[in-house]
Amino acid sequence: MSSNLQFENTDTVLIEDRVFTPPKDVVGHANIMDYMKSKGFTDYAQFHQWSLEHRNEFWDDMAKELHWFEPWQSTFQWTDKPFFQWFVGGKFNIVYNCLDRYVDTSTWTKVAYYWEADDGSTRTITYKDLYVMTNRIAKTLQNVGVKKGDRVGIYMGLIPELVAAVLAVARLGAVHCVVFGGFAANALRDRMNDAQAKVMITADGGIRGGKTIELKKIVDEAVAEVPTMQQVIVVKRVGNEVPMQRRRDVYLHDLLATIPENTVVPCEPMESEDMLYILYTSGSTGKPKGVVHVQGGYGVGVYATTKFVFDVKPNDVYWCTADIGWVTGHSYTIYGPLMNAATSVLFEGAPTHPGPDRLWAIIEKYKVTILYTAPTLIRNLMRFGEQWPAKHDISSLRLLGTVGEPINPEAWMWYRKYIGANRLPIVDTWWQTETGMMMISPTVILPLKPGSATWPLPTIEADVVDRNGVSVGSDKGGFLIVRHPWPAQMRTIYGDPARYQTYWETIPDVYFAGDAATKDQHGYFRVQGRVDDVIKVSGHRLGSMEIESSLVSHEKVAEAAAIGKPDQIKGERVKVFVILKDGVAPSDELAHELKQHVRTVVGAIATPDELEFVPTLPKTRSGKIMRRVMRARELGEPIGDISTMEA
Ligand code: WTA
Repeated sequence: MSSNLQFENTDTVLIEDRVFTPPKDVVGHANIMDYMKSKGFTDYAQFHQWSLEHRNEFWDDMAKELHWFEPWQSTFQWTDKPFFQWFVGGKFNIVYNCLDRYVDTSTWTKVAYYWEADDGSTRTITYKDLYVMTNRIAKTLQNVGVKKGDRVGIYMGLIPELVAAVLAVARLGAVHCVVFGGFAANALRDRMNDAQAKVMITADGGIRGGKTIELKKIVDEAVAEVPTMQQVIVVKRVGNEVPMQRRRDVYLHDLLATIPENTVVPCEPMESEDMLYILYTSGSTGKPKGVVHVQGGYGVGVYATTKFVFDVKPNDVYWCTADIGWVTGHSYTIYGPLMNAATSVLFEGAPTHPGPDRLWAIIEKYKVTILYTAPTLIRNLMRFGEQWPAKHDISSLRLLGTVGEPINPEAWMWYRKYIGANRLPIVDTWWQTETGMMMISPTVILPLKPGSATWPLPTIEADVVDRNGVSVGSDKGGFLIVRHPWPAQMRTIYGDPARYQTYWETIPDVYFAGDAATKDQHGYFRVQGRVDDVIKVSGHRLGSMEIESSLVSHEKVAEAAAIGKPDQIKGERVKVFVILKDGVAPSDELAHELKQHVRTVVGAIATPDELEFVPTLPKTRSGKIMRRVMRARELGEPIGDISTMEA
C-alpha cells in the first residue's frame, strides 16, 4: 500500500485547505484531519492502515461523541457469523442525538430545515420546531397504539411532516418503513405486508412539478389488502377532498388538536441492536428485500461519515437532493445532518420546474454551501446548458458530492466547471442501501481523480477480488467486496435471514457488494456498475425480476426478461423482451399497454423504455434467464467477457 498520496498525475486535483472552526454543540473531533492528528497521522494511507488495525478504537471514539443512555460493553462481536453486533449492551436512541441533546444549546434555535415547496413558498423549521412537531406526532402515534417494535409505513412527498414522522416513529422505538412515492399500489401493498405494518402515515396528496399526486388513493388501494393495517394517518398537504374510511383513516391535524405544544414523549432507550428501520430495495429475485438497520451502529456510522465526508461546519447550508424514500434520504437528509447539527434544505418539487434553473435558484436563495446529488440529475441539467446555472449566484457553494451510480467524466467536468467554479472538490461517494453509510469516498484530505470514489473510509477494508476472493492486480476488473462488518451495515433482511447470508457466501467470508470495480496503483477505486440483475434507472434501484413478474401478471404474456441498457441521461434504461401467449398477436398498441401495465403494477420509475416481442429467451439448463447474454447481444458486446463477470 502506498504510504504517500502526493503523487503526480495529470488528472489529479488537490482539495484546497480548509479553515477549521470547531462546532459548538457537537462535541468531539471536528473533522477527519483533526482526528488523524489526534492519532499522530498526517497521511491518509498510513492512517487508513492504522484504522484497519484499530477498528474498535476508531468506532469507540466516534460513538463517544454521541449520547448513550447506557454505555456499551463490547464494541464489536460476531454472534453467529455472518451475523454480528456493534456497541453491545449500549442503550441509545438516534432521535435523542438528532434533537433532544440540543435543548437549550445554541443549536436549539438554529434552522434544521429550510423547506422549499414545489410552488416556491418556504417554511423555516428550527431544531426546536422539529422537536415540537416530532414529540406531538409521537404522542398521536402512542395514542393510536404504536409501541416499541411496531412497524409503521410512511408514504408521502417531501414535506417537513415526513421528517417529523420518521423521527416520531424512531423516538418511540417503533420501526419506520418509508416507501418511495413513485411506487404504485401493488408495490406499496407488498412492502407493507412483508413488514406487517400496523399504521400508515401518508398525505392527502403530493405536489411535484405543479401536479398533484394522489397518494391517498394509492394508499387506499394498497392497504385494502394489508390485513395488519389498523390506522391510516393523513397529513393535509393539498387540501383536496379524499375519501376517509371511518375508524381506519384520520387526519393528523385532528389528532394533534388535543395535543399541547409542550408535549414531550421521552425517547425510548433502545438496545443498540434494536431495529430502527426497514427499507425495501431491489435484488435479483422478484421479491424486494427489507433491509434492516439498527439504532446504535447505524447512528454512529452515519454520524461519523457525514462529519468526515462533508466536513459540516456550523454555518454550512447543506442540501442532499435525494428523496427520503431511498437510503440516501434516510442517512444523509435526515439522520446524518441532524446528528451533526447541520442546517439543511428540503425540497418538495422537481428540479426542472418551473424552469431548468430551479436547482440553481434554490442554491442562490438559501446560500447552499454543500450540494449532494446524483450523476443522473447532473446529466439531466447539463443537457439544458450552462446558461442556466450562470443566471444565478451560486458562489456560496464550497463542496459538491455525488452518489448512486458511476459519474462519467463529461458530467464530472461539467459539475466541477460550471457548478464548482473550476475549484470545488467533488466527493464521489460509493455506498448502498445495505451499507447504510458511505463506504468509499474522498474526505477533505484526499486528492481527487475524476470518476473515482478514491479510498475507503476509515476501517473499511474494501478490495477488488476474483471469484475466489483473491485480490486482482492494479487496474484489473473484479468484484467489489468488504472484508469486515462496519457499524451501519444492515443486520439482516427482514423475515429472510438466509437471503442476508448470501451476501457473505457468494465469495466466502467477505461482504459481496454486487458491483464491478477496479483499483489503481494508488489504491483508488472506480466502481463500474452492478454485476447482478439490478438496474439503476436515474439512480433508482430496480430489480429485473420485479419488472418481469409484473409483465407476466398480464394475461397476454407468457414470459418476459428485463435488462438495463446504457442511457446518456438516466445511466440505464429498461428494455424488456416479451414472449406472448399462444395465439396473441404482437402490436404497437399491445407494447404500449404492457409498458403501462408495469407502470401501474410497480410504479412510474419502472416503466420500460423499450419493449421487444421475441419468440424465445436464452436460458441456462436449469431454466434461468441469461440476462447477461441478452444484454451483451443487445449492446453488441462479446458474450464471453460479460459472462465471466456474472455472479
Ligand atoms: C451504485 C445508493 C458508482 C452501485 C446509496 C451500488 C455507485 C448501488 C455509487 C447501490 C458511486 C452507488 N459510484 N456506483 N459513487 N454509489 N452506486 O442501494 O451500483 O440505491 O451497488 O444505494 O448504486 O444503490 P442503492
